[in-house]
Amino acid sequence: MIKTTLKSEKLFQHKTPCLVLFCSEDKKPAGELKKIDQALNGPVASAFKDKRFEGKPNQTLLLNARGSMKAENVLLVGIGKPKEVTEENLRQAAGTASSLAEASQFKKITFYLPDGELEKALTKDKKLSTGEAARAVAEGSHLALYHFHQYKSVEKGEEPSRIEEIILLSNSKSALAKLKQASERASKIAEGVCLARDLQSHPSNTATPTYLAETAKKIAAKHKIICKVLGEKEMQKLGMGSLLGVAKGSHQPPALIILEYKGGKKNEAPIAIVGKAVTFDTGGISLKPPANMHEMKMDMSGGAVTIGTLQTVASLKLPINVVGLIPSVENMPGGSAIKPGDILTSMSGKTIEVLNTDAEGRLILADALSYAARFKPRAVIDLATLTGAVIMALGNFAAGVLGNDEKLIDNLKASGALTGERLWQLPLWDEHDKETKSNIADLKNIASPGVGAGTTMGAAFLKPFAGDQPWAHLDIAGTSWGAKKPYTPKGASGFGVRLLVNFLEQEAKGGKSKSAKKHGK
Ligand code: BES
Ligand code: MN
Ligand code: ZN
Repeated sequence: MIKTTLKSEKLFQHKTPCLVLFCSEDKKPAGELKKIDQALNGPVASAFKDKRFEGKPNQTLLLNARGSMKAENVLLVGIGKPKEVTEENLRQAAGTASSLAEASQFKKITFYLPDGELEKALTKDKKLSTGEAARAVAEGSHLALYHFHQYKSVEKGEEPSRIEEIILLSNSKSALAKLKQASERASKIAEGVCLARDLQSHPSNTATPTYLAETAKKIAAKHKIICKVLGEKEMQKLGMGSLLGVAKGSHQPPALIILEYKGGKKNEAPIAIVGKAVTFDTGGISLKPPANMHEMKMDMSGGAVTIGTLQTVASLKLPINVVGLIPSVENMPGGSAIKPGDILTSMSGKTIEVLNTDAEGRLILADALSYAARFKPRAVIDLATLTGAVIMALGNFAAGVLGNDEKLIDNLKASGALTGERLWQLPLWDEHDKETKSNIADLKNIASPGVGAGTTMGAAFLKPFAGDQPWAHLDIAGTSWGAKKPYTPKGASGFGVRLLVNFLEQEAKGGKSKSAKKHGK
């Protein structure tokens, strides 16, 4: 992570190449912004007047300070209507400012976070504390400044300009402790997100199931996490015919990665996170068309997010027990690959008629969900880039959520809203369950033509494998890649890490998330 420094200094005395001020949608500059504007001879007021800058979300105005203060440049960034500003507004605004500062070749960026000032600008029902605001800002900045450039050679002298230091500036010494705590938390969270993004971005000839397993082991060794990896033999013994069936078309050996973090009480039931990790999805014998097939290197996003989340939870030392389960395979059309019509026997004993080898995610998740039950979890959350249909329904604006436990879904939705990683619930009815029944086996992995409801049908298939465990399924096919957000550069998003960390934090506090409170629990 980029070095973050905390300072308490008078605004005009702070030396920096780029001083960022957050500005809400007011009629004209007020407070300290007014003082700066006066010192600069009114460029801000004139921008407001001409409507070139009005504080609208993510609007920017970059001004040269012309020696009127110690900062060389002032960058205004909009955060929207006063009393309606959210953490997400701040995160995005910080991301916008960071990318602009980096593109402008500044090496350092300072965010001015006046104690108490931002609080005034916020909603009535939810006041953001200085600490929360600082965390959102630091998070947005770190996440926006992420780059994946491991495979690109740079000529000497052609190195791209990078921000080397983020400074959080306060007007009060006593607020520094809050800022420090906030910035440390933000760094740990951003590290988890960026780890997930790295794993998503690596091509499939690097990020194989074995590579994911090795990475998980390394992370476990650095933190208080136990890592076990089940190979083909062990999975055979467990009867994981569904997972192993998908692996058969590839020379890459499959892996079931198990990460156990025990930060909670000894006897407390854990929360299980299950992440689909198909390191490349060709579709198998039901081969995908070539256009954009390269993007299927991200079909392990669920697994990447699970690893990123466990690392974050461990580095934050959350008082909770969490198990991560990552079934990992490569879906290839090799000579031994399963073929349409083949029947697999899953660990649960249920038989599955594979009518489309491209519906492979649900096949590997089926066995992982059965395995999850061994930990007697109090909740199971699976994340998977499962269906193209969720992209049709929700684009990359939200992930789909479905499951068998409304309270769990509500709590996840609340965490999604807070972190800007939105979830949208889709139905899962008995009528859908019926469409998963096969004529000659217990289940079939795709519904008959014309049934539609692709995302729900994916979840309906998983449901019997989740059994009576409280379970939620997040379809992240649309949100894992190519999100258009100021703090998400092109490509991998790491979507899900911040949502899950927030959810687990609430659970660690006793599950008193906002939605739970609303329902009087
Ligand atoms: N990995 C894909 C889903 C996907 C599509 C992820 C686009 C990211 C972007 C999944 O394995 C798949 O192929 N799903 C099929 C299911 C169908 C055969 C029932 C799909 O959505 O077309
Ligand atoms: Mn597929
Ligand atoms: Zn897939």
